[in-house]
Parts: sequence; structure tokens; C-alpha cells
Amino acid sequence: MNQLIEKLSTLRCLEIKEFEQLISACVKCDDSFNQLRDKATQVAREQFGCGVYMRGLVEISSYCKNNCYYCGLRRDNRNASRYRLSDGEILSTCIEGYEVGLRTFVLQGGEDAAFTDSRLANLIAQIRHNCPDAIVTLSLGERSKESYQRLYDAGASRYLLRHEAASQSLYEQIHPSDMSYDNRINCIKSLAEIGYQTGMGMMVGVPGQTIEHLINDILLMRELRPKMIGIGTFISHPHTPFGIHTSGDLRLTYIIIAIARLMHPQAYIPATTALQTLSATGYIDGILSGANVVMPNITPLTVRPKYEIYKGKHHTTTPIAETIQSLAQQLSAIGYHL
Ligand code: 5AD
Ligand code: SF4
Repeated sequence: MNQLIEKLSTLRCLEIKEFEQLISACVKCDDSFNQLRDKATQVAREQFGCGVYMRGLVEISSYCKNNCYYCGLRRDNRNASRYRLSDGEILSTCIEGYEVGLRTFVLQGGEDAAFTDSRLANLIAQIRHNCPDAIVTLSLGERSKESYQRLYDAGASRYLLRHEAASQSLYEQIHPSDMSYDNRINCIKSLAEIGYQTGMGMMVGVPGQTIEHLINDILLMRELRPKMIGIGTFISHPHTPFGIHTSGDLRLTYIIIAIARLMHPQAYIPATTALQTLSATGYIDGILSGANVVMPNITPLTVRPKYEIYKGKHHTTTPIAETIQSLAQQLSAIGYHL
């Protein structure tokens, strides 16, 4: 296996057959799994040292017009309680985060028509004015190219839009027919053309997904070269059509994260919340698979439990400063720092 890992690390890609071999070896054999992760952390350390980047996550709205089969925020989930933060709440959340040292804010939400271009442009400008040298990242789903351009001009510089599935057939199995694979990919391309640092990614273990699908994801990201790569594990939510399925596998998620690191040495790869939801050491194990970003949730505590993409989503009830302190402690135990 060592040979394949070295080859992947040198060439930053493998043949499809070789990817299959590598993944199945790492699933079955602890030695291969450990070798792959060691190589991935080594590559991350060569690029970034032992530093881990922090992004403050603000979940601005739990309303969504879409109906993705896997997600608890889907419009048909009548059990979900919905909220939408006001501009003032979003701004003060960012300022609070700024005061404890955060320099990147990720505004994330469902596709909520209440967040018009002019409202968002105004909000972005206010955040940038009040938090000089902070970066605004958006994660607000599919919008028009004009909209993306306007938000970029207002001062947003990064955008996360997971592609969710590189295989059109799988994409169509996990989304209703009013969502379009082509539109999703075109959105990602538009964002990059405008100049955003663009993020892609997918879940591991979404119902219907095979290893071949995951290899397609890996290859699509190799083609589009995202600057950020978000890989989480599918976690079943009972109030969704996929609630009858079991959640995805953490080990396979770590394998795919490590492969992504070897193929994209310079990418920002978060240890996602899904990892921490499934395991108390999820963030740390993500870092030890080659991730180099953590995204502490700074959403106001009053609404935080309502942003329930999946069941049991990890949420702390501790203040921001303490969350950061505890992350710093966990990281220092493995020789890393924020
Ligand atoms: N389990 C894990 N991740 C999920 N997402 C949505 N629903 C789930 C789920 N049930 C992810 C999607 C989406 C991001 C906001 O959260 O990949 O892009
Ligand atoms: Fe909406 Fe995103 Fe959930 Fe789909 S995954 S229902 S677009 S919040």
C-alpha cells in the first residue's frame, strides 16, 4: 500500500483502479489506514506547519426553499423550527467573534429568499467596516451569477458550495427533480470565474453512494481545483426521506479527507462538524487525517439548536471564548496550535 500512497503523494492522482485498491485496503487494514493518514498530515504540516485555521460559523437562517432528501432544513420538514437572524444580530455576532480573535466569518444558511442581494451586500459591507482585516465567506447555496458578483463586489471573498455528488445519477437520487446537477456545477464555476476562493465537497455515506461515486467526487475536485474542500459524514435525520437509512462511516470519511489532502496540498480542508457529532474526537481525528481548519460555531445560543441539518448536531452551549480555548487545548495535546 505504501507504494500507492507514495504515488498518490507524488503524482497527486491515481488510476481509478488504484483508488479502489487504496480505499479498500484502508477500510480493511489498520496499517494502511494509518500510513495514509500519516502521509496526509505530513503533507499538511509541510504546507501549514502545525497551525490550524479558525473560521467563525454564523448560521444565519434555517429557512430553505429546497427539499434535499438528506437534510433536516428541507422545506417539507414541518417539525423543524425556523429562525432567521436580523442584520443586527449577525453583525454583533461577528463583532463578538472578532473581539476574541476570529478573522474569518462564514455566513451559512438555507436558501432563504429573505436574504436578498441588497440586504446581504449591505450586511457584508457592515461586517467589513466593523471588523477590518476580517474575511467574509458565504455559504448560502445556489444564486445567480449576477448575485454572486454583487456580493463579491460588496466584499465577500470566499464561497462554500458543496457539489454534493459528482455523478449526475447520484445527484438526482439525493435531490428532488426541481434541483439541477448542471446548475450546481455551473454555480461553482461562476464563483471561481468571479474570483471567489471557492469551496466544494460532499458527504461520505449518503444513501446510494458507492466507492465509485466517491472516486468521481475526488476526480471532479481534481478537475475544478477548489481552494477549500468540505467533506462530512452523512448523518441520518428522522424527519427526512433518508431518515430510514443509517449514517455514513467515519473511517471512510477520514480516508477520503486524507486522499483529498494528498491531491490538494494547499487546500483549506475543515474538520467538519459532522465528524465531531459522530465522535468526541472527531475534530482531532480530522486534523490527524490532513484537515487544517476548524469552524467553531458562533451562532447565538438561543437559535443554535434549531439549525438542525442532521440529528444530534454537535452544539456547545459554551461562550465563544471558551470554545476557542478548549479547541486550543485539544490541539495542543497533539502538538498543533490555532
Ligand atoms: N448529514 C450530513 N451532512 C449534511 N448536510 C446536509 N444534510 C446532512 C446530513 N443529513 C450537509 C450538506 C450541505 C451542508 C450544508 O450540510 O453537504 O452542503
Ligand atoms: Fe436547503 Fe442546503 Fe439543506 Fe438542501 S442541504 S435542504 S439546500 S439547507
